[in-house]
Amino acid sequence: MGFLFPLSLLVLLAAAYSGGGSARRRWAARAQSSGGSSPAPSETSAPFWVRISPKFVAVPPGRSVWLNCSSSCPLLEDSTLHTGLRRGQMLSGPSWVSFQLLDVRAWSSDVHCFITCAGVTREATARINAYKPPHSVILEPPVLEGCEYTLRCHVTHVFPVGFLVITLRRGGRVIYSESLEYFTGLDLANVTLTYALRTRPHDLWQPVTCHARLNLDGLVVGSSSAPMTLTFLAWSPMSKALASTSIAALVGILLVVGAAYLRKYLLMQSRA
Ligand SMILES: *[C@@H]1O[C@H](CO)[C@@H](O)[C@H](O)[C@H]1NC(C)=O
Ligand SMILES: *[C@@H]1O[C@H](CO)[C@@H](O)[C@H](O)[C@H]1NC(C)=O
Repeated sequence: MGFLFPLSLLVLLAAAYSGGGSARRRWAARAQSSGGSSPAPSETSAPFWVRISPKFVAVPPGRSVWLNCSSSCPLLEDSTLHTGLRRGQMLSGPSWVSFQLLDVRAWSSDVHCFITCAGVTREATARINAYKPPHSVILEPPVLEGCEYTLRCHVTHVFPVGFLVITLRRGGRVIYSESLEYFTGLDLANVTLTYALRTRPHDLWQPVTCHARLNLDGLVVGSSSAPMTLTFLAWSPMSKALASTSIAALVGILLVVGAAYLRKYLLMQSRA
C-alpha cells in the first residue's frame, strides 16, 4: 500500500494550495473595500489609514487637478507626493494635505502620497487619466478617380491619438481600420484618414461610415460620421456604361410614346 502515500500527499498539497489561494483572495478583497488605505499586514503597532481623494480622475489634456491626501493620524509628521506631473499649489491641515497638479498631459499617471505618523509611513495611490473623445468625425463626400473612390475622414480635437483607431465601414462591414499607436503627441490633435477604395457595381448605394474610437485600457469612447453613399454619378468605366444604358432605354420609350401620339394626331387631321 506504499503507493497510496504519495497520492494522499498530493491531495493534501492541493488542499493547502487552494486554501492559501482563497485566503489571498479574501485579503485582496478586504484591502480593496477599505477605500484606498494601505493594507497593514505587519505594522499593527500604528493603526492609521491614509486615503487619497479622488482615487481616480479623468480630465481633458492640459487641465489641472487637486488631490487631497488625508489620514486618521491626528498630527502628520511628514507627507510627500511622488508624481511625474508638474506641481502647483499646496494646502494642508493637521491631518491632510491637498496638492494641485498642473497641465496634465500624460494619458495615465499614478500619483503616490506618503504620510508618516509616529515614525510609520503609509501610502495611498490615485490615478489621473487625460483624454478627450473626438469633437467631430466627418466623412467627406467620396470622390471617384479612375475606378477608385477616395474616402477622406476627419477626426477633430481628440486625445491621446496613440490610442485612436479609425475604421471605415461599408454597409456595416469593415473595409479598413487603422490604429495610430505610433503617434505620441501630447496635445489635442486633428487626424485625417485618406483611403482609396476600389468598387464593384454591387457596392454602389451602400452607405459608408467612418468610426473613431479611443480604446483606453478597457474604457472605450468614440463617435461615428454621418453615412455617405457611393453613387455612380461619379464616372467609372463600368458605371458609365450602366448609366448610358439606362438613358438609352428612356429615350427609346419616349420615341415609342411620341410615335403613338403622332399617329393619333395625323389620324385626327385626316378626319377633319
Ligand atoms: C481634505 O480632506 C480632509 C478630510 O476629508 C478635509 O477635512 C479637508 O477639508 C480637505 N481639504 C481640501 C482642501 O479639500
Ligand atoms: C482642428 O480642426 C478644427 C475644426 O476644423 C480647427 O478649428 C482647429 O484649428 C484644428 N486644429 C489643429 C491643431 O489643426
